[in-house]
Amino acid sequence: MAKSNMLVEGFFDPATSTISYIVFDRHSKQCAVVDSVLDFDPKSGRTSTQSADRIIARIRELGGKLEWILETHVHADHLSAAPYIKEQLGGKLGIGKEITTVQTVFGRVFNAGTEFARDGSQFDHLFADEEAFRIGTLEARALHTPGHTPACITYRIDDAAFVGDTLFMPDYGTARCDFPGGDAHKLYRSIRRVLALPPETRLFMCHDYMPAGREPRWETTVAEERARNVHVHDGISEEQFIDMRKSRDAKLDMPVLILPSVQVNMRAGRLPEPENNGMRYLKIPLNAV
Ligand SMILES: [Fe+2]
Repeated sequence: MAKSNMLVEGFFDPATSTISYIVFDRHSKQCAVVDSVLDFDPKSGRTSTQSADRIIARIRELGGKLEWILETHVHADHLSAAPYIKEQLGGKLGIGKEITTVQTVFGRVFNAGTEFARDGSQFDHLFADEEAFRIGTLEARALHTPGHTPACITYRIDDAAFVGDTLFMPDYGTARCDFPGGDAHKLYRSIRRVLALPPETRLFMCHDYMPAGREPRWETTVAEERARNVHVHDGISEEQFIDMRKSRDAKLDMPVLILPSVQVNMRAGRLPEPENNGMRYLKIPLNAV
């Protein structure tokens, strides 16, 4: 097999256990960023850009031209740095088409006014299921893999797939399905779809929670997940999966950053407009989630 032109580099954010990626085409030097993080300290309300600056610096070092800034979904545990990265390097911001469903649900929760469009127009591109696209010479395809949220996308790029929160490493399992719009049945079917890719397909996770204190890891394969994923290895039925997910989700706390993250990420990572004193504010809906 010809050597792939694709270089993948993961950047682990210990504060939110998120992995952001640079996907770089050695041939054309075009690249994509998948799931960037804007640092946010909930105790002080301060944002900062160290995580995004590392990625920007690395793209500059590679001489990369940023073509795409991709989100696998509207994240509920970190703010996206997409607008900041776009300002620095350009690129088109893409997410799944079903973002409109997420915007409708959370637009209601945050009582967003009519200035908040629910049509996904804050993004440059909305991917349909099975839509093909390119990163330079790398062939890519968006797979709609709902369940954790209605708009989750797995980006199949070259010999790899960026699964977002569809799957975690084999020793950790799968993502929760209890956020508004989550659906464990859909997640099971989405996972089976990802696991139907060729066994050697490299899978890149959006999170790693380091079970049993091991080092962070974020790359596995379809074959490994099918053999060893603690929640969905081959042989686990849809019913077994649903039972496990329901009892587990019932015991989970909400992520620390869910309220800041969702209200920013539903706006494609844009912070709320400043009020008349020049300051920006986030809302905390009480007793809503
Ligand atoms: Fe998520």
